[in-house]
Amino acid sequence: MTKNWTPDSWRSMPIRQVPTYPDEAKLASVEAELRDLPPLVFAGEARRLKKQLGEVANGNAFLLQGGDCAESFAEFHADKIRDTFRVLLQMSVALTFAASCPIVKVGRMAGQYAKPRSSDTETKGDESLPSYRGDIINGIDFNEAARVPDPERMIKGYAQASSTLNLLRAFAQGGYANLKKVHQWNLDFVGGGEAVEKYQDMADRIDEAMAFMQACGINPNSKALNSTDFYVSHEALLLRYEEALTRVDSTTGDWYDTSGHMLWIGDRTRILGEAHVEFLRGIQNPIGLKVGPTTDLDELVKIIDEINPEDEAGRITLICRMGADIIEDKLPAVIKRIEEEGKTVVWSSDPMHGNTISASNGFKTRPFENVLAEIRRFFRIHRSMGTYAGGVHFEMTGQDVTECTGGAEAITDEKLADRYRTHCDPRLNASQSLELAFLIAEGLKEERDERAKEAKKAAAAS
Ligand code: PEP
Ligand code: CO
Repeated sequence: MTKNWTPDSWRSMPIRQVPTYPDEAKLASVEAELRDLPPLVFAGEARRLKKQLGEVANGNAFLLQGGDCAESFAEFHADKIRDTFRVLLQMSVALTFAASCPIVKVGRMAGQYAKPRSSDTETKGDESLPSYRGDIINGIDFNEAARVPDPERMIKGYAQASSTLNLLRAFAQGGYANLKKVHQWNLDFVGGGEAVEKYQDMADRIDEAMAFMQACGINPNSKALNSTDFYVSHEALLLRYEEALTRVDSTTGDWYDTSGHMLWIGDRTRILGEAHVEFLRGIQNPIGLKVGPTTDLDELVKIIDEINPEDEAGRITLICRMGADIIEDKLPAVIKRIEEEGKTVVWSSDPMHGNTISASNGFKTRPFENVLAEIRRFFRIHRSMGTYAGGVHFEMTGQDVTECTGGAEAITDEKLADRYRTHCDPRLNASQSLELAFLIAEGLKEERDERAKEAKKAAAAS
């Protein structure tokens, strides 16, 4: 048990990015209602993910984490869940195929409803209103009534997370993820380009391998080929919701936040001595820490000490989000310090949040070439420092949106308006995601080939 910690000990600490609810009685009754609802995930699942992330930290697996910037209540639909799941599955197969390495799949799904904002207010013309903070807090419409924080939205968030998870579990375990279907996942794939061709080639080769294995007597419906592990994660921002879903695990007596398998702290709330770090240090789920260019390294080390005093592998994932143009300036110092301190972490790259710009017509966008450049540099820096680039974290959707410029479809500033649907930050669409996966696959393959060579050399020398 963590020292001097209770699920509500965060309440006595300074806190940022919280809504002010006008109706406190209603808020208290919603929190009480949530405390009585069943857990969304099991502690044992969170433990299994932590173990798998431990394998990533030790260089034996790779973390693929992605999904919406903000899941929305209005856009909630089975097809959208399936499409995002499918693209993650396709990416994962591309990575496994290239690098022969287990891929740990984690969705930004089933709970990613609360958003930190850079400003408390949003102004349009001469009207200023409280900012939209995600569907679990208030409404996105630009009018006074919508922007009032409503506690009932937490119940709706819970319900939506619950049905999203239910469907994801069915997709992951019920046969949809069978490798025999690798071609079918592609059938209604929109957008074209090289990545789609590459995918089809790969699918052909997987089919051949499957036919070969079947001929050898391996059952294609065995669990390993017919199902997959899929986890869910979100930013632990709305602590009242997180606290209400935090329960003692009957097997170990430890506290787990049962709202998702993995929780992360955003770049704006990762502050020592404040509420978000306090809450996360006491739950035993795997924890992500966003690391931006302004991160104070002394503070980061102290936060890691608080959250992971035993240096358990898989407990901490550092999600670095620097920006393509400054990653080479900023990341090496972070890696050097964490290495010097002897901390075991998963190094993951978020190539989205440091690359957000305003397009010529005012749309918030991310040039796809900058996203790719940050990933390339992330791999290169780790290779040169002898550390393991263990994962990626990005904002994507299975839908054919036009939110990030560039990619095979060459989305221009003008085209952004066509299908710009995000509730918060711009996401990669399905074909951009696949293109990114092939780039990561190359990086991963080079890294693994390099390590195999070194191991051979070392064996020959001994
Ligand atoms: C996010 O992941 O959506 C986010 C807000 O990221 P960050 O905290 O890194 O800005
Ligand atoms: Co975002």
